[in-house]
Amino acid sequence: MKIQNVCCIGAGYVGGPTMAVLALKNPDIKITVVDINKVRIAAWNDSDFNNLPIYEPGLKEVVQEARGRNLFFSTDVEKAIDEAEMIFISVNTPTKTYGKGKGMAADLKYIELSARQIAKVATTDKIVVEKSTLPVRTAQAIKNILDHTGNGVKFQILSNPEFLAEGTAVQDLLNPDRVLIGGEESEDGKEAIEALVNIYATWISREKILTTNVWSSELSKLVANAFLAQRVSSINAISELCEVTGADVSEVSKAIGMDSRIGPKFLQASVGFGGSCFQKDILNLVYIAKSYGLNEVADYWEQVIIMNDHQKNRFAENIVSKLYNTVSGKKITFFGWAFKKDTNDTRESAAIYVADALLDEQAEITVYDPKVSEERIYADLDYLNTRSPEENRRLVKIVNDPYIACQNAHAIAILTEWDEFKEFNWHKIYSSVIKPAFVFDGRKVLDGRTMKQLGFQYTAIGVSI
Ligand code: NAD
Ligand code: UGA
Repeated sequence: MKIQNVCCIGAGYVGGPTMAVLALKNPDIKITVVDINKVRIAAWNDSDFNNLPIYEPGLKEVVQEARGRNLFFSTDVEKAIDEAEMIFISVNTPTKTYGKGKGMAADLKYIELSARQIAKVATTDKIVVEKSTLPVRTAQAIKNILDHTGNGVKFQILSNPEFLAEGTAVQDLLNPDRVLIGGEESEDGKEAIEALVNIYATWISREKILTTNVWSSELSKLVANAFLAQRVSSINAISELCEVTGADVSEVSKAIGMDSRIGPKFLQASVGFGGSCFQKDILNLVYIAKSYGLNEVADYWEQVIIMNDHQKNRFAENIVSKLYNTVSGKKITFFGWAFKKDTNDTRESAAIYVADALLDEQAEITVYDPKVSEERIYADLDYLNTRSPEENRRLVKIVNDPYIACQNAHAIAILTEWDEFKEFNWHKIYSSVIKPAFVFDGRKVLDGRTMKQLGFQYTAIGVSI
């Protein structure tokens, strides 16, 4: 089967870039990305490509080439569903904030709404592709909704989880380690799988396109994120041990990473992992394990989150204790707010929680981040509900010049590993801050020896203090 018309529900961090690359590589397929968020769609359609709603290196160029040719962004969800032979569901699946499974299970409200909308609109057979990250066996629920439309339309459900990482989304999409497609083992199932394989095969070699049953595919996505996050928590656990023993976590990472069985990637100690998915997906895995009565399995994975929370807390506590046990009324400058470099995404960023802990101690925070907007930072703090929006605006200032941000600061804390921080004139910064000049490097981006030579009291994660 040759697909000619694709719809994607959800124009977010996954839907937007994924469909842009799909459109780039399949100029003969019409791809319409729809969203209920009018502002987001307007931004995707902005005549100035610098105003796209998501910042990703290389994305602007891809959208520039495909948009208006075979890539379209629209709020007309029903029309796009009706026209498409294949529909990707790429809506958000946050952790539930209410009811059963609150704080752990994935909230499938948006998935269900999308499935119901497809069921309502569809008049021709459709392949429905789960692009969102979902609990294992969600395809069953989607199928139940779709199979009861009563209008004779046939649906095939595929699972095609996305493995892109933010900041490298376009590169990851152009050159993925693998593409995973799960589908039914029936003839119709195989045909649907093949239709999706053909779309990816226009630029990805077939050996890298892995096909499995639906449940393996759904579960593999959660497991991949759990393993990645586990590596970060493992090295972060060791970072604390390094600080008290005189070992240097970077040297330990290098030494263990050279063992080809361990490998060098994802061993960078940090102030804690963030991002919209690691925590949510592990909590989801823990919830699923618990719901099957597998308590040891659940406890094992939950430890990854416990360790991550500990890492964020102890970074904040260390700042307070170094600043003579009080930060009340002191200015702390944050370099970075995004959850990692090269993205404007701040979801679950460690910076939010470190800021919250320091604000509890009555610190005054000034933030400089090259890509994150002032509104976003205030929205992140307001969302915590720890203090009033007025108080957040009184205690936290956002400045778009790093040197001004540092003036008269009692301490500088590095929360995101933006490359530009290495290039700053640290000598100039030293002369404008209050002495002793404290720097707390939560990402190990700076060279400790140089910083000390410049006169800073420099502390980094995973190096003895
Ligand atoms: P997002 O919040 O950026 O985007 C989701 C979009 O879906 C929003 O714009 C929202 O308005 C829209 N939406 C929700 N319900 C809708 C409906 N009924 N009709 C139309 N639009 C609707 O989320 P995201 O980061 O793109 O994540 C989407 C999914 O992909 C999640 O399941 C996530 O776990 C998974 N994922 C994310 C990443 C990542 O790097 N962000 C990577 C891999 C997988
Ligand atoms: C992660 C996965 O890497 C993707 O494969 C997956 O598709 C995605 O989650 C998802 O499902 O959403 P992402 O969260 O965008 O991607 O970014 P990562 O590069 O994985 O970083 C996550 C967090 O871990 C960041 O805060 C990062 O700073 C931190 N990290 C990462 C470390 O602290 N140390 C490391 O060595 C690596």
